[in-house]
Amino acid sequence: MPRVKSKRRQQLERAILLPLDWLEERSGLVGAVRYFLFRKVPHDTNWWHTLGSATLTAFLVQLGTGVILAFYYKPTPEEAYSSIQNITNELTLGWLVRGMHRWGASVFIILLFLHMGRVFLFGAYKYPRELNWLLGVMLLVLAMLEGFTGYLLPWDQTAYWATVVGINLNATAPFAGPFLSDFLRGGQEIGTETLSRFYSLHMLLLPGGLIGLIVLHLYLVIRLGVTSPPWSKEAAGAEREEVITAKRGLVEPRPRGDGGAAAGARGRPEA
Ligand code: HEM
Repeated sequence: MPRVKSKRRQQLERAILLPLDWLEERSGLVGAVRYFLFRKVPHDTNWWHTLGSATLTAFLVQLGTGVILAFYYKPTPEEAYSSIQNITNELTLGWLVRGMHRWGASVFIILLFLHMGRVFLFGAYKYPRELNWLLGVMLLVLAMLEGFTGYLLPWDQTAYWATVVGINLNATAPFAGPFLSDFLRGGQEIGTETLSRFYSLHMLLLPGGLIGLIVLHLYLVIRLGVTSPPWSKEAAGAEREEVITAKRGLVEPRPRGDGGAAAGARGRPEA
């Protein structure tokens, strides 16, 4: 016998569903999120597959803390160091936000490498995911540049001399080297221009590029699905029978109002 819902419950459900339906009808966003959350993944997906999402989380933490730091940081040689001291010692919880951003940068890079290692060891870079691997390589380069440009911003002795070394190393590259180091330095010596450039790259260009590439990367992950572990029966190349499941709906997204016609047409039993 169907359970009778109380009036209060019905009102609550209507209040929640009304804005969602409104949004869905105009954008299809709710359906997209449902598809994302309930898409099929290999049944032996394991903890190693969480490294990509962990990297994404670390990146989001960097974005959040970075925006807060940008409220108070002053990108000039005269004020950069003192503004960082102010953030660390004077602002409420400034030390925490700065600490999260500074240590989070290392966490982000470490997770990035672990994720890349997982993808490599599972052979997940092979057909049809080569393009996603290439996007990943670009993400890696941009992430390293984020670290390099961010390191100068505290404008202390370590930051200054590390940047001198970094820029001089770039200068030794064949052909492009001198142009690259001139571009990064923005003049004859490391100073105001360099700091402005590094700041602009660090908080505008590189994060923008990273966000764009991450969106493409995730689009391909959703489109192609994730790879089973190499030891799995479901791994590429392994012989397997198609499992026909009677439990539909949650794991088998279908158009709204379809009423099971799509599944029926594919010869699946009705639930
Ligand atoms: C900001 C950096 C990155 C983020 C946020 C990110 C995020 C993700 C996520 C969430 C997944 C799906 C879950 C998983 O397999 O862990 C994934 C899969 C994948 N990533 Fe990344 N990733 C990043 C960097 C990289 C790098 C550096 C590479 C390689 C050079 C790479 C190559 C791949 C490949 C090939 C897949 C598909 C794996 C499969 O099908 O099993 N990613 N990524």
